[in-house]
This record gives sequence, structure tokens and C-alpha cells, in this order.
Amino acid sequence: MSYRVAVLVSGEGSNLQAILDKVHGRDGIEVVAVGSNRADARGLGRAQKAGVETGVFDAADYGGDRELRDRILGDWLEERQIDLVVLAGYMQIIRAAFIERLQGRIINVHPSLLPAFAGLHAIEQAVESGARVSGVTVHFVDEGVDSGPIILQQAFELPYSAELEAIEETVHAIEHELLPRAIRLLASGAVRIDPDNPRRVLIEERADV
Ligand code: GRF
Repeated sequence: MSYRVAVLVSGEGSNLQAILDKVHGRDGIEVVAVGSNRADARGLGRAQKAGVETGVFDAADYGGDRELRDRILGDWLEERQIDLVVLAGYMQIIRAAFIERLQGRIINVHPSLLPAFAGLHAIEQAVESGARVSGVTVHFVDEGVDSGPIILQQAFELPYSAELEAIEETVHAIEHELLPRAIRLLASGAVRIDPDNPRRVLIEERADV
């Protein structure tokens, strides 16, 4: 039985590429679908190159009706029997109805140590705050903005003089390790919500993942 992953992207898709390179076709994990809200997202080309089916779900094609778009995207994912939906730079608000359909099966990668600096421009927010440390978070998606239970985090130092571009590079390098690792852990069944505290995620220690 394979573990079927869908990835949603809006732009560059470097995280998608890391997933394709590091987990796709290994240990029973298959990326079976890549969706985007934008036909010009570079990530779609990366998926096609890897032989993965793609779909474009632009609300503009549905008269601007985002709920209808989400329903059609949800149908597309359901038909493909997806075990996990990975938001990898998917710049759309995820609505309650979509989350309900995919209960506990949606994760996101965010470029800060949540709960600090949720929302847009997280790296800039961290720099402007004067924080000395920032990081990357992979978390389950709930109805809030970047607020779901945290699966993995990794910190890095934020030197006062660092250029934004250099920080972005550091963030990406961490994301490209942390997100594939989270997918491997989820696929192996090592991740579950703490029954005593649904804000917390329990991870079974496994040397092989
Ligand atoms: C990443 O930095 C991710 O944390 C954020 O959007 C960016 C996507 O980059 N959510 P890419 O499209 O994967 O290159």
C-alpha cells in the first residue's frame, strides 16, 4: 500500500522539488498530484517533469467563487485517494469546509518559529522584531492562520547584520530538509495528536526515519 501525497503550490515550488527529490518513490511514498491556484506557478513544471499529474484550480475560472473552487479541488483530491495534502507555498486561505473534508491530513511549512510571526512576510517580521533566533515550522493546518498543532521545528540564529537574501537562503535550506522529514514521519505512522492535549503532537522516536 502506498502513501499518497498531494502538494499544493502557488509559485516557485522549491519545497515541492525537495519532496520530489527526497521522498517521492521511496518507502512507499508517492506524490500523485500537484495542484495550484495559478496556471503560471513554476512548481507545476517541476511536477510535470517528474511525471506527476497536475491540476489548476483558479477561483477566476469559477466566477471568483473560492468556495466552489475549494469544493472542486477537494473532489479532485478525494478522487485520487490522498493520504496527505502538503501546502508548500500555497498562497490561498484554507477554509473550514476544505479542512473538514481532509480531517488531520493537511500540513503546511511556515518560515518562522510559530507561534511567532504567523501570516505573510514572516521572515521580514522576524528581522524587524529584532529577534535573535528564527526558524522553520511544519504544522497541521487548522482554521486559523498558521495556528495548527506543530509537528517539527528547527531554529537558526538571526545575526543583526544579516541580509534578507541570505536569511531566505538559510530558511529554504532548512525547509527542504524539515518538510520531507515530516512527510516521512507521517507516512511511517509515527505522528499523532496527543489525546490529552490536541494542541500537541506526539512523535514516536524512530531511528530509521
Ligand atoms: C516557503 O518559504 C514556505 O515557507 C512559504 O512559502 C515559501 C514557498 O517557497 N510558505 P517554494 O515555492 O517552495 O520555493
